[in-house]
Amino acid sequence: FDVVDLIRTKRDKGALTTDQIDWLVDAYTRGYVADEQMSAMTMAIFLNGMQRDEIRDLTLAMIASGERLDFSGLSKATTDKHSTGGVGDKITLPLAPLVASFGVAVPQLSGRGLGHTGGTLDKLESIPGWRAALTNDEFMSQLDSVGAVICAAGSGLAPADGKLYALRDITGTVECIPLIASSIMSKKIAEGTASLVLDVKFGSGAFMQDPARARELAETMVRLGTDAGVATRALLTDMDVPLGLAIGNANEVRESVEVLAGGGPADVVELTVALAREMLDLAGLPDADPAQALKDGRAMDSWNAMIRAQGGDPEATLPTPSETHTVVADRDGVIDRLEALPFGIAAWRLGAGRARKQDPVIHSAGIDLHVKPGTAVKAGDPLFTLGAEDPARFERALESIEGAWSIADTAPAARPLIVDRIV
Ligand code: URA
Repeated sequence: FDVVDLIRTKRDKGALTTDQIDWLVDAYTRGYVADEQMSAMTMAIFLNGMQRDEIRDLTLAMIASGERLDFSGLSKATTDKHSTGGVGDKITLPLAPLVASFGVAVPQLSGRGLGHTGGTLDKLESIPGWRAALTNDEFMSQLDSVGAVICAAGSGLAPADGKLYALRDITGTVECIPLIASSIMSKKIAEGTASLVLDVKFGSGAFMQDPARARELAETMVRLGTDAGVATRALLTDMDVPLGLAIGNANEVRESVEVLAGGGPADVVELTVALAREMLDLAGLPDADPAQALKDGRAMDSWNAMIRAQGGDPEATLPTPSETHTVVADRDGVIDRLEALPFGIAAWRLGAGRARKQDPVIHSAGIDLHVKPGTAVKAGDPLFTLGAEDPARFERALESIEGAWSIADTAPAARPLIVDRIV
C-alpha cells in the first residue's frame, strides 16, 4: 500500500479495509511510515471518525503488534478494571485487593500520570520499598498466591499503541473516541484478562466533559471487548468533583487505606464497592459482598499481602509535605461548587504530577480537601490544605483554583456519582 493513498482516503471521509489497517499499524511500528504521515492520518481520523469495523481492525492490529498474555494456566478467574482517569481517582488501590480477597485474580497493569491525571504507579511508589516493575514470573506467581497485582505494563503489550499515543499527545489528537477506545482496549485485551469493568468518566476532570460523548466511548469499548471475547461492562460516572478528599500521591494511598479499614469518604467507598460487585459478578461470584469485606479486614489483609509481595512495607509512615497552606472560608454558607480539573491542575503544580514523561513526581505533594459540595461552613473554617516541598509552588496552584469553588446560601442539588451501567 501507499500510505499517502490511505491518508487521502481518510481525509476524504472514506473507510480503510482490514488489510490496509493491518499494514498501516505494522509499517508505523517498524518505522516505514513516518511520524508526520501518521500525524496526518490521526488528524484525519480525529476530524472524520472511523466506522465500527475500522475501530475493531485498529484495535486488533495494535494487539498484534506485541505479545498477548495468557492466564489459562491460572487456577483462578481473572478480572480487571480500567478508569478513563480523573482527579483524586485512587479507586484501583482499594479495589484490586478487595476483589482479590474473594479468590479472584486481578492482573492490573497500570501506568504513570501525565498532566493533571495521576498515575496509580506514582501513588503506590509513595510506599517505601514498593516496586512497580515485576518480571513475568513474579507477576504470575503473585497472581496465583496473593491474587492482586498492580504493576507496570511492560513495553511488550501493544507497542504500536505506545508509539501512537505519544504522537497523539503532541499533535492534538488525543480526544477522539475511535482512537481512545482502540488505545485502551488494545492494552486491556493484550493483557489477557477474561473480564473487564470500565469506569468511564464525564465532567470537568474527565477526558470527555460531555456525558453523551462519554457514553459513546463506553459503548464503543464494551463492544470492542465483547467482540474480542473479553466479558466487558462499563459504569458511567461523574467526575465533575474530585473523588474523595485527597488529591496527590501519598495522601491518596492514605485515603485508600482508610477505605480498606472500613472507613474513608462515602464517594470512594460507593464507587469501589460498585466496581467490585461488577468484577466479582463477571468472575462468577454474583453473591459476593464486597462492602462486608471492607469492614471485616479481609480486604486489608489482601492489601498488606499485595504491598509486601512487591517489596513495600504497609506499616511504613508515608511522606507528608514539609510546607502547607490552608485556604479558609470567607463567609458562612454551603459549598456549592468544587471543580475537579482546576484542583487536579493545582495538585500537579504543587509537584504531585509531571510535565514531561521523564520527570519525577513529589510523593508528599498534593491537596487535602476538608469540604465537598454540600458541606456547611462558617467563615474561617478550613476548606483545603495545599502541600508542597517548596512554598514557591503555592502561588500558581492557588491561581489554578481561583474561581473553581464557591460558597452559596443553600446546598446544591445532589448529583448521583454512578449515572449508568452499560453492558
Ligand atoms: N488512555 C489511553 O491509554 N489511551 C488513550 O488514548 C487515552 C487514554
